[in-house]
Amino acid sequence: MCGIVGYTGSAQAAPVLLDGLRRLEYRGYDSAGVVVQTGDELKMVKASGSVAHLAELTGGGRSLEGVCGLAHTRWATHGAPTDTNAHPHLSEHGLFAVVHNGIIENFAALRSEQEAEGIVFRSETDTEVVAHLLEKYYDGDLKRAVMRTASRLEGSYVLGVVCSKEPGKLFCVKEAGPLILGLGVGENYFASDVTALVARTKNVIYMDDGELAELTAERVTVYDRTGREITKTVSHVVWDIEAAEKGGYEHFMLKEIMEQPRAVKSTIDLRIRGGRIAFEDFSLTPEELKGFDKIVITACGSAYHAGVVGKYVIEALCRVSVEVELASELRYRDPIIDGHTLLIVVSQSGETADTIAAMRECMARGAKCLAIVNVVGSTIARLADNVIYTHAGPEIAVATTKGYTTQLAALYLFAVWCAERLGRLDEARYAELVDSLRALPSLVQRAIDLNLHARYLAERWHGQKSLFFIGRNIDYAAAMEGSLKLKEISYIHSEAYAAGELKHGTIALIDEKRLVVALCCQERLFDKMVSNIQEVKARGAKVLGLAIEGNRRIFAEADDVLYAPRGEQLFAALPEIVPLQLFAYYVARENGCDIDKPRNLAKSVTVE
Ligand code: AGP
Repeated sequence: MCGIVGYTGSAQAAPVLLDGLRRLEYRGYDSAGVVVQTGDELKMVKASGSVAHLAELTGGGRSLEGVCGLAHTRWATHGAPTDTNAHPHLSEHGLFAVVHNGIIENFAALRSEQEAEGIVFRSETDTEVVAHLLEKYYDGDLKRAVMRTASRLEGSYVLGVVCSKEPGKLFCVKEAGPLILGLGVGENYFASDVTALVARTKNVIYMDDGELAELTAERVTVYDRTGREITKTVSHVVWDIEAAEKGGYEHFMLKEIMEQPRAVKSTIDLRIRGGRIAFEDFSLTPEELKGFDKIVITACGSAYHAGVVGKYVIEALCRVSVEVELASELRYRDPIIDGHTLLIVVSQSGETADTIAAMRECMARGAKCLAIVNVVGSTIARLADNVIYTHAGPEIAVATTKGYTTQLAALYLFAVWCAERLGRLDEARYAELVDSLRALPSLVQRAIDLNLHARYLAERWHGQKSLFFIGRNIDYAAAMEGSLKLKEISYIHSEAYAAGELKHGTIALIDEKRLVVALCCQERLFDKMVSNIQEVKARGAKVLGLAIEGNRRIFAEADDVLYAPRGEQLFAALPEIVPLQLFAYYVARENGCDIDKPRNLAKSVTVE
């Protein structure tokens, strides 16, 4: 998954493009490049390494003169992150430059065809075939060349195109990946994400698959896949660029952990009016809800973990069967999904390729789809029948925190709303649950305040080579997310395990070198967890316990303790993840890891 940005206007393009790339770097950061029209030529600089490195090479962009260009930051799929594989890619005679996000599935056949025509490839990438096709089809009509090129491509391709013979003009194409147009005054932009544009304009157009757009300094024209000009809605971005800045924190991740009380509050408060839960423009009627014989939740990564938590809560309240499926698995199964299935899709970015594919598969089988998404106007949001937006604001750190906790908040809201609609809740319990939802933001703040010592625990445990996160019921679901947080930012192996399952084999791995994080927030299961703690301690493990504040027994069992605030047990997974986020953050910081941009990762995985 990569980041692309384009600019055409009256300012020098390269500095604008580099600033846009900096805000896209969380989408991919192993190499970067920029190209601008200079006279009747294309001047390009690209290299492996970070956007900051590219800025050094170009004197902050000042070494490239021109008012129209493209830039790209890469997460390598085809070809190692080298200078030659970095984007942009030039056509054979340098007439075209192209940047690309996605995967051209038929690039090998196209490359063979072009090599047979005598073209010598410079890179190992799939993208280079696009540049050569553009030059092949260009006869003076840029739009036609772009359309003919796109018609030859299979797979996912969000493209930015600039031609040395078309001064001040850019083209972009959207197929299975995010692409937003930015409308300025005497200048226009496109980018993979609003964060790259919002410093210069808040008026944006969300492109749809199959569409292409022509941009000049004065005008933006959007076409459908037949080349017919279409009118698109201009949206206004409601948040400021400061929301996408670090705000004085050392890392975006820590800032976003600390933003969680506000993010959870924004997600919940908007949907509770007069003591009742109400969703904006929802088309799910009580009759439709009663017509579903099961709910399937599908997602990837942390969003999947949110779905596992959702299963426990929705089943407990609605008494409807809930299946949770990894999207990358669901898309290739022959799932039993039909018009009586409610599909809940969870995604922070709304652009995860596996999740989109699974969603399309299930909707094609008749499922009605509810999406829980953070990014407004994202592909998943626009494909779904109903959307619950999480109001986390832009999440920059690759490791999600507020994205995940607001997904839980949205799932809790839905579970209580649905249970009430299905007649599963008496008024007293409904009111109690609504009060518990409204209490969540303060519980998240309490969870932060209770665990400022997490940084000292990290100093003690950061050298661990492998950890287990164990829990039961909702704690087991929370353990999955706690384990992933640690893994993905500190590169320490960890595994989440159902505490009751450990003795069926995996306990063979427990020895004196092992740290076990024991989640003990489901109080009715605390005694069972004590038994599991004693099992692993008897085999030499050290234990970091996570228990509800005020629990004194945990001190007798665990070597160290993290705390979760007391609240509605059904909603415990939300506040209890905060100490685990902080622990993971400080362990990674102790180990000197690149916390906001961990190796090999990208913020939104828009490729398979
Ligand atoms: C979370 O910390 C990871 N970065 C990753 O697992 C992420 O949750 C997953 O890729 C799904 O992304 P989405 O929510 O944007 O669909």
